[in-house]
Amino acid sequence: MLVAGDAGVGKTRLLEEVAGQAAEAGMTVVTGHCVDLGDVGLPYLPFTEVLGVLAADDRFASALAAHPVVERLLGAGSDAARDVDGRLRLFEGLAGLLADVADIAPLLLVLEDLHWADQSSRDLLRFLLARGVLRHRLAVFASYRADDLHRRHPLRPLLAELVRLPAVERLELRPLADSDVARLVRALEPGPLPDATVRRIVERAEGTPSTRRSCSRPPTRGPAGCPAGSPTCC
Ligand SMILES: Nc1ncnc2c1ncn2[C@@H]1O[C@H](COP(=O)(O)OP(=O)(O)OP(=O)(O)O)[C@@H](O)[C@H]1O
Ligand SMILES: [Mg+2]
Repeated sequence: MLVAGDAGVGKTRLLEEVAGQAAEAGMTVVTGHCVDLGDVGLPYLPFTEVLGVLAADDRFASALAAHPVVERLLGAGSDAARDVDGRLRLFEGLAGLLADVADIAPLLLVLEDLHWADQSSRDLLRFLLARGVLRHRLAVFASYRADDLHRRHPLRPLLAELVRLPAVERLELRPLADSDVARLVRALEPGPLPDATVRRIVERAEGTPSTRRSCSRPPTRGPAGCPAGSPTCC
């Protein structure tokens, strides 16, 4: 599932809800984050994080031992896959590992902020989904900021490919209606709020739920109290 939406619209929150319910249902939930590192980037960063979590879980020791090639991602940095053959072995190793892990316990892989994924992470995700990892007891939820995807953004061609795969769906989180932001603000505030204050918050929110705390309460983060990634805040 590709979860798209503007900054602050609630992608992470939705993924947290999904992850919580999946964990309650007995799934292993592993999250990998993409990070904005500019042009430098760190190869395979979200998958390195995922592997680190799997490697720390005794249940998956035998699965990891069966695919030693993936250890190159653990702390191997940019040397992880220098040549084409090495890359292919690495990709196949990870696909095999995820399938084996999913055989041991159903797995939910959460990939956050794909708009910041570097080339190697995009290639690996493309490979895994095209190779049919989703045929196993494995689900992937990946988020990205739709408003960050300018015309030449490198994630665009990958998304266009992925949505054509039968197992892949896309969910777009749209901004909330003003009336819903107003209801949210009033529901979250313990005391009554003047109408003018609610209107001011709604105007500034531009449909994102992320603004209500910082606008209706004293600042807790930074001079404006705006949560990171919430450009529409006060
Ligand atoms: N449905 C909701 N109800 C109440 N609060 C919400 C809801 N969705 C999101 N929020 C709150 O809004 C804030 C921003 O949400 P979130 O971090 O999920 O946005 P995001 O889309 O992941 O943004 P970014 O692109 O910056 O990562 C968080 O504080 C979150 O708790
Ligand atoms: Mg987020």
